[in-house]
Amino acid sequence: MNPQNLRIPGPTPVPPEVMQAMQRPMIPHRGNEFRQIHKNLVQKIQEILRTDSNVFVMPGSGSIGWEAAIVNTLSPGDHVISFVCGDFGARFAGVADAYGLNVRTYKVKPGHAVDELMVRRALAEHPQAKAVLYTHNETSTGITNPLQRVGPIVRDHGALLIVDAVSSAGAVHIDTDLWGVDVLLSGSQKGWMSPPGLAIVSANDRAMAATSQASFPRSFLDFEAWSSSVAKGDTPATAPLTLYFALDAACSLILDEGMAARTERHDEAGRRTRQTFEDAGFKLFADTAYASSTLTAIEVPGGAGAKDLVETVRERYDIDVAAGQADLSDQIIRVGHMGWFEQEDIARAANAVVACATVMAE
Ligand SMILES: Cc1ncc(COP(=O)(O)O)c(C=O)c1O
Repeated sequence: MNPQNLRIPGPTPVPPEVMQAMQRPMIPHRGNEFRQIHKNLVQKIQEILRTDSNVFVMPGSGSIGWEAAIVNTLSPGDHVISFVCGDFGARFAGVADAYGLNVRTYKVKPGHAVDELMVRRALAEHPQAKAVLYTHNETSTGITNPLQRVGPIVRDHGALLIVDAVSSAGAVHIDTDLWGVDVLLSGSQKGWMSPPGLAIVSANDRAMAATSQASFPRSFLDFEAWSSSVAKGDTPATAPLTLYFALDAACSLILDEGMAARTERHDEAGRRTRQTFEDAGFKLFADTAYASSTLTAIEVPGGAGAKDLVETVRERYDIDVAAGQADLSDQIIRVGHMGWFEQEDIARAANAVVACATVMAE
């Protein structure tokens, strides 16, 4: 299959330079060569995320970032506020619940955003909340929540802001420090143009201070162990070298493009994709004021049949798009425009969905 035909919202296509980097032979993971690569990688990620915080590149998928953030900054019974506008927010809340936190969940209808009014209200209703769990880009509905406006509100309150940026970081501009994000977590297989297998986590001084108080048992995910290793260029355990080589090459490509140009390319893909679907008479699923620049969700005409439509697009065009998740699994289609793409790749995928849906409706 043409790698440019993978148009699901992650894993995303991996550029040739990144594939090439993975051919590199193994090196000692406790040697100076690795330490230098690791140090450079951390610096690149700090630049991409606009942060001076600790950066930990942890083996595991994005989900491990949820777990790492929780066990390192909180203690059993702590109050946390979680905002749910889709399946990933719900899963994040589920992890907090599984750990025995006192989770206050605020839900909005899928397709809508968690705005600053809701965040203010939740903090006023739960002043004892130690942390806020916030999903920047809800991949299951195609919404980007207004993190830049929410961050300062949470900071004023004093709660820690833990942000799931799995499907936005690396693709679009995030001002981690300026926006007041204490812990940010992402996944290598999305905007970072790398294979699945790494969680990218940033933790600032407030998060590290919380770590020294947090009483959840932890070992492999312990931020203090990571922080002292990373300071030397090491990782606490054997680093998955091939994935590190890949992410390092991808970060160089990201910085070569520049985050401003990269963000604009993603914004443009979002605008064009929404326009294509609207012109063809489809209903966009996400509130356009908060529509994501990394994926677009549309309602399937007739309200069901998303899974069949995905299969038809694959059979006829050899293009992979995604159906919905959880309750929306058969009701919406999601087209990913994340990471490595040209606008024409996305137009081809959107047009294929339109053509197949039209044929199927006849
Ligand atoms: C917003 C969001 N959070 C968390 C996850 C979970 O990441 P992973 O599947 O890499 O564990 C995903 C995966 O798609 C996601 O999109």
